Amino acid sequence: MQFIEISIDVSWLTFFAVHLNSFWSSIVDCLFIVVSFHGWEPQQFNAIVALEKILITFTGAKEIEQMKKQVVNFLMMFFFIGTAVAPMMTASAGTISFATPQSSVADTNLYQFMPFPMGAAVGIARMKNNAKYSEVVSKEFNSITAENAMKFRSLHPAENTFNWADADYLVEFAQKNGKRLHGHTLNWYQYLPAWVTNFSGDSIAWENMLKTHIQTVVAHFKGKVASWDVVNEYFNDDGTIRPSVWVKNLGPDYIARCFQYAHEADPDAILFYNDYGHEYSSAKRTAIGKLINAFKARNIPIHGIGMQFHMTYTQSDANINAAMAFAAGTGLKVHLSELDIRLNTNKVQGFVFNETLAAQQADRYKFVVQAYNAAVPKAQQFGITTWNVGDADSWVPSWQGVPDYPLPFDANYLRKPAYKAIIEGGK
Ligand code: G3I
Repeated sequence: MQFIEISIDVSWLTFFAVHLNSFWSSIVDCLFIVVSFHGWEPQQFNAIVALEKILITFTGAKEIEQMKKQVVNFLMMFFFIGTAVAPMMTASAGTISFATPQSSVADTNLYQFMPFPMGAAVGIARMKNNAKYSEVVSKEFNSITAENAMKFRSLHPAENTFNWADADYLVEFAQKNGKRLHGHTLNWYQYLPAWVTNFSGDSIAWENMLKTHIQTVVAHFKGKVASWDVVNEYFNDDGTIRPSVWVKNLGPDYIARCFQYAHEADPDAILFYNDYGHEYSSAKRTAIGKLINAFKARNIPIHGIGMQFHMTYTQSDANINAAMAFAAGTGLKVHLSELDIRLNTNKVQGFVFNETLAAQQADRYKFVVQAYNAAVPKAQQFGITTWNVGDADSWVPSWQGVPDYPLPFDANYLRKPAYKAIIEGGK
């Protein structure tokens, strides 16, 4: 009610003042209007009647009558607006405090509602060829991660060849649109070019190859990329070290040298250890906790923990809270780095999205954001990044081989209930 009153007051007042163009009539208008909106008690109204009698004495009954008719018309119309329109506008504001009615949600941006950076992983082909996609990215998020463009195979396809084109396109986009750019990933057991998986050098050659890749990439993006997932997915879910070409050829402690090489190349970059499964594997949490403590003891430069959170809508509050408490307890920056919430947990072909699932998914998005915001101290809140933008962009359906709808935007980049839930969770 409050909202409508202020804006209409002014305009109608001037409207009436201009039209009727008589000093007294405006006075009467004001009085009537004020009375009606503030809903003053009957006795105050009597005062008006009295006042009216005075005015009649000075101006004449006919004008007053004419004026009263007009004021009544005005009140009728105002009553209509008050009862019909206002509820629609205030209802949405009640839940999400958008300044304007739902239909013009386009005017709001997700990240502006969040108490920490809100990001999305993006595909370069889509950024270049899908205007709606890049528009949503630029509008809704203030942090971006390259889904694949900064991985080893993309940047370093041959031993003596670096391919910066796609990644530099994203740097330019981020700089032009004032977005933070998070680098993913300097070292991973997957998405490696053949020349690496087939590399036949000795451990020194492997060490040089590792160092050259990390330091060439970090140096190229120095001052443009704020932070890096230095090593991704080093542990198995049972907390053991995952076998990889890196561990095989350089030993398990190669991971510490990755962080040292990255730090040497850009001492200002925030360096993360990134992995998945924190929300379901206490063994993995323990292993990661031990690694971080060992690094701290050895002064290995590690500044953040990335929790991917590729989760299902059935994940429990307790597990989500356990992951948040663990991450906050490391004292490092905490990044929910690849959030998406799958629905088709039974891998049903022809699986369809519906309102019930939308609500259940929204509930999980809200809970995850709330749990993050509650458990992670402000100084450690690096932010939350969804792993792509709309359901049609997600890696999940091709990975699972069945339909799924894991993201806050649908295939047409319309906002799903999950979108509002993220905002609710950040309050
Ligand atoms: O670009 C080629 C294209 O030229 C070719 O026609 C096509 C068909 O094979 O493949 C395209 O490359 C695919 C690439 O995504 C780009 O779409 C690769 O095959 C495919 O393996 C790659 O999948 C990516 C996957 O990581 C492997 O790197 C997913 O998009 C990406 O979402 C996923 O992201 C990972 C994170 O980096 C780490 N955490 C888990 C997460 C999900 O797996």
